[in-house]
Amino acid sequence: MSKRFYVTTAIDYVNGQPHLGHAYEKVITDVIARARRSMGDDAFFLTGLDEHGQKVQQAAQQEGKTAQAYSDALAEDWKRFASKLDLTNNDFIRTTEPRHKGVVSALLSELHARGHFYTAEYVGFYSTRAETFLTDKDRRPDGSFDPEYGDVAQLTEQNYYFRLKDHQQWLIDHIEANPDFIYPDYRRNEVLGFLKNNTLEDLCISRPSARLTWGIPLPFDPGYVTYVWFDALTNYITIPAAHGDPALPPWARKAAGASGNEAVELWPADAHVVGKDILKFHAVYWPIMLKAAGLPLPRKLVVHGWWMKDGQKMSKSTGVIVDPVQVIQDWGVDAFRYYVVRELDLGPDGNWTDAGFEARYNAELANGLGNLVNRSLGMLNKYRKGIVPPPHDELAADAARAIAAVREDYEAYRLQGALIDAWSLVSRANLYVQQTAPFTLAKDPAQAERLDQVLYNLLEACRILAILVWPVIPQTAQKIYGQLGIPGAPDRFADAAWGRLVPGRATGEPAALFPRHDLVPRSKS
Ligand code: ME8
Ligand code: MG
Repeated sequence: MSKRFYVTTAIDYVNGQPHLGHAYEKVITDVIARARRSMGDDAFFLTGLDEHGQKVQQAAQQEGKTAQAYSDALAEDWKRFASKLDLTNNDFIRTTEPRHKGVVSALLSELHARGHFYTAEYVGFYSTRAETFLTDKDRRPDGSFDPEYGDVAQLTEQNYYFRLKDHQQWLIDHIEANPDFIYPDYRRNEVLGFLKNNTLEDLCISRPSARLTWGIPLPFDPGYVTYVWFDALTNYITIPAAHGDPALPPWARKAAGASGNEAVELWPADAHVVGKDILKFHAVYWPIMLKAAGLPLPRKLVVHGWWMKDGQKMSKSTGVIVDPVQVIQDWGVDAFRYYVVRELDLGPDGNWTDAGFEARYNAELANGLGNLVNRSLGMLNKYRKGIVPPPHDELAADAARAIAAVREDYEAYRLQGALIDAWSLVSRANLYVQQTAPFTLAKDPAQAERLDQVLYNLLEACRILAILVWPVIPQTAQKIYGQLGIPGAPDRFADAAWGRLVPGRATGEPAALFPRHDLVPRSKS
């Protein structure tokens, strides 16, 4: 048994339907997981839902449902969404499951027993919408709070606090000693800047049951439920614990109900993929929670930016939204996956435009990859009855460069770079068609051998491309394999080595991978 590559997404609040931001995070995490598997790692991919807390309780109340019934219904939508995105997650966590509640409760007990918590009274201004007490720093120049906080009211509360100050220096040291801990590096610098210029405030980890019932009770004080972020972050160890991971202590495995006979080694996580807005929770609170409980820290935080639409923040109330389900229905899941990975590098913010989507679809998918595969197979059928000619290696060096570059990109989380480097081979091969003019060669029987060579180079480039793009556009890659008459799936990077296309074999029928498709005008609903 050996440790698997363990990669996670954030778990989404179930207070509405999934949107482009959620879809993006899941797709890039799926690409990371698939790429690792292709390169030989036994990757384990976890995604799921964050179901407790005030936001969900309020959303449920508005619909006149219990929080549990509300979450149960939405969880079905979100699971369907995951399969529409073609995700290959190995488990799906819901924080209302017994295995998770058990682990959160056990972790709270462990930290309590180790003396990390104390009680104190707090008087402050509380924003229900933000689920947080506000401070004077949150006030605007006129003394009021930003309307984005909703109703703000004064509250006095007795609560449990997690002592954080003792943890500040080792955390700074850890981040400095492990430059790969936070990717990209400008996010790392942000965290270091924050830690060096501020004294960490102790974290309030309880909410009185009087104002919030929808949460996991503190095992040492039934008058409280735990703070939703303490609950949510713990999901990343719930699943390893539930799968009997020996890297976690017996109290965690027992609390998750691990059976003991199916141990899977997952912890520490190799990458937590999260948005920039929740970096502090993952770079500060989560490592401290783990360290305080005597558990190893995750290896990396991969921090992505935020999508806008037409230069504006997406919001249901203004109607500025991208509905991923609709886009997938109109254009196919691979077109959606391709666009979000190709358009936005992992790190900065991005901007969705329908025109940009259509332009990439036509230029890069339909006319680029699609046309290359289609005409290569079309010519093979026409000139060689679909039988693969003997090997030839005129494009081998170009392919080898692309293969090496794409591999490095996937390993370094440069997903956009992987597509750019793969498309260098698409362009090279399309140029090769122009340069060698196989349609002219076909007219001259004396050029039969040259035509064979050209066709082999084109088909072999297509085969290799299927493997390079599989993590991002798996259905298309599989279709390319099918059309080339290759059995199995293009899911092993090691097969991306020049010359493996077997001569003498019959290929399948070519069919358009990306049908010409003009943007369908849709009514706004
Ligand atoms: O924060 N563009 O849940 P969430 C890109 N439950 N990413 C976006 C986005 C956008 N416009 N909008 C949201 C939570 N996201 C917590 C997480 S993890 C232990 C608990 C991303 O549903 C966001 O950055 O508000 C986050 O990573 C994820 O969607 C879930 O956001
Ligand atoms: Mg959010």
